[in-house]
Amino acid sequence: MSENTYAAPQRLDGRIVLITGGARGQGAAHAKRLASEGAIVYAADVLDDLGKEAESAWKDAGLDISYVHLDVTSPEAWQAIYQKLHSDHGRLDVLVNNAGIVDVSTLEELDLAVWNRVLSVNLTGAFLGLQSMLPLLKAGKGSSVINTSSIFGPQGAIGYAAYAASKAGLLGLSRTAALELAEHGIRVNSLVPGGVSTPINEHEKDGGVIPETPLARRAHATELAAAVAFLASDDASFVTGTELVVDGGFSAR
Ligand SMILES: NC(=O)c1ccc[n+]([C@@H]2O[C@H](COP(=O)([O-])OP(=O)(O)OC[C@H]3O[C@@H](n4cnc5c(N)ncnc54)[C@H](O)[C@@H]3O)[C@@H](O)[C@H]2O)c1
Repeated sequence: MSENTYAAPQRLDGRIVLITGGARGQGAAHAKRLASEGAIVYAADVLDDLGKEAESAWKDAGLDISYVHLDVTSPEAWQAIYQKLHSDHGRLDVLVNNAGIVDVSTLEELDLAVWNRVLSVNLTGAFLGLQSMLPLLKAGKGSSVINTSSIFGPQGAIGYAAYAASKAGLLGLSRTAALELAEHGIRVNSLVPGGVSTPINEHEKDGGVIPETPLARRAHATELAAAVAFLASDDASFVTGTELVVDGGFSAR
């Protein structure tokens, strides 16, 4: 199948969007898709050289995407982004907690420092984002939060204890946030990708989950971006507290 080249509608005209892990992979694809639908996007990451390079390509393509440095594990860094968004726009309409790292170790060999690091980036990072951005999301238009989980959240996966625990934790965080924030008109959902072709799974020389995926391939990042654009937009105005699974049929087995 060829890459998704669908001409984007303008569902996000003028919406203010922050995407973590936005320098490459799915985060960069989300940034491009949401900006192509009219959003003003901040792509945040720790990969500053890559992020700045991407930013100049995005600007050349006429997309309103700015790269910003943000380590999602740092409450101070989140406060700095809060100040920037507050002074630039006074609100945030869409937060995509997409930053993530992976570790592959058996339970026997899993180091406590590695466990803490994976939980810190993948789960605590999303919590800090949600909590610190809350005043701006309350001021947003049709506010939507999307937390990127994984098929290894609902299901177990040998060698992925820390990663799977962090991704399962995100499902609980999303559902609870959806309940607490509904009264403010803020929707919160999880994205549940299957295998996606990005740098995070370059270690999977055997194709990772492709053999267990009925569509027998990894997703293009653009196919996840299309799902994020839906959840971010008013097309999903009655969708909250749930999971959007984009996994080529993996979970249907
Ligand atoms: N690729 C897959 O097969 C797959 C499947 C399911 C879920 N996911 C999830 O999708 C999300 C995006 O991953 P991807 O596939 O694009 O891989 P990726 O490695 O290309 O992207 C992850 C991004 O997060 C950034 N990041 C890491 N630590 C950070 C930190 N402390 N602060 C800010 N940014 C940080 C990285 O620099 C990178 O740009 C991740 O949460 C990942 O767990 C990926």
